[in-house]
Amino acid sequence: MPDRIYMDNSATSFPKPPAVTEAMVRFAEDCGASAGRGAYAEAKACERLLADARVAVATLINAESPDRIVFTLNASDGLNIAIRGVLNTAPAGSHAIATALEHNSVLRPCNALAGQTGLEPEFIACDGRTGLVAPDDIRAAIRPETRMIVCVHVSNVTGTMQPIDAVAEIAREHDIPCLIDAAQSAGHAPIDVQALGADFVAFPGHKGCLGPLGTGVLYIRPGAEDRCKTMREGGTGTISEVATHPITMPDKYEIGSHNAIGIAGLLEGVRWLLDRDVAAIRTHDEQRCEQFLTDTDGVAGLSVYGPRTIADRSGVFSVNVDGLAPGELAARLEAGWGICTRPGMHCAPLAHKTIGTHPTGTCRLSFGPYTTAEQVATATTALAEVAAGARAVAESA
Ligand code: ALA
Repeated sequence: MPDRIYMDNSATSFPKPPAVTEAMVRFAEDCGASAGRGAYAEAKACERLLADARVAVATLINAESPDRIVFTLNASDGLNIAIRGVLNTAPAGSHAIATALEHNSVLRPCNALAGQTGLEPEFIACDGRTGLVAPDDIRAAIRPETRMIVCVHVSNVTGTMQPIDAVAEIAREHDIPCLIDAAQSAGHAPIDVQALGADFVAFPGHKGCLGPLGTGVLYIRPGAEDRCKTMREGGTGTISEVATHPITMPDKYEIGSHNAIGIAGLLEGVRWLLDRDVAAIRTHDEQRCEQFLTDTDGVAGLSVYGPRTIADRSGVFSVNVDGLAPGELAARLEAGWGICTRPGMHCAPLAHKTIGTHPTGTCRLSFGPYTTAEQVATATTALAEVAAGARAVAESA
């Protein structure tokens, strides 16, 4: 069995910087307290840890202040807080716009609300080759009843990098709350939330931010919390004498004891990104994309989906080999070369419909900051060999 080549960073990043694990072990062994739930030194240390992590994440995305950073379980959790917080109480017949490239973490809450409240979600078609959405199509879909615009930054199927600045600007022009799903972009590409001007940006802590599973972030623009109700209430460790939930940030959306051990790891993941500079990480990703596209270009029997222009994409590649099911391709890549991929539908059925791969899907290879040029070379060689093998079998049949 060769060493494994991890190419499933869209599911969760691996490896993590060593400081991530070290901080989590340190927390477990030396601290182990819950923030805001005690007056002793360790409880205060945990409060400091959360404050430091909020500052680090705010710095990463240029948030106005650390209290704009809400810790969540993952990106889906943050997306639900924003979607349901804005739309749960919207009158029947309210309209929400998203794109066909959204993940189920947007599609499913919107479709659930269609049944529960009479919401009318509309998923704007994207280009079948690149996956790009046309901002004008979003503008044209706006109605008087439109209550929210949601757009994924980077597709977890095609790697397409959507024009989120234009989308957020359209939403602002119409004073419609705008939510960006940055699940595949935070930590991989620079995000400046003040320049972007979206009301909500949700992302996981465990993907590009290099923290552990079970961590996530929802950024909320100053004032946007006034348009987002709470979905759940509970203890916050603050103003305990009051029996109604605080409306102050970030307590408004954080209930119960925090995943402090996870946030300890997330803090170190974000520090690692800040030390290296996300712009440099994006350059590294662009180089890997260029290499992958060049080395797979023209390989007979191999389809590579998504944009071919580097500026329009990130290192998330869906591929198919003629005559092989995506699961079979994934199994061969793992058995022959130790390459870890994710085959199937990637929780994004409309994205696969867009690129014509529904319902069988694709095999996805997704890169991270630790992905080397040698690993990409192995992957492209492996894909060419598997495609040649499948072709030989087809020709001999
Ligand atoms: N959304 C994650 C993925 O694409 C889980 O794998």
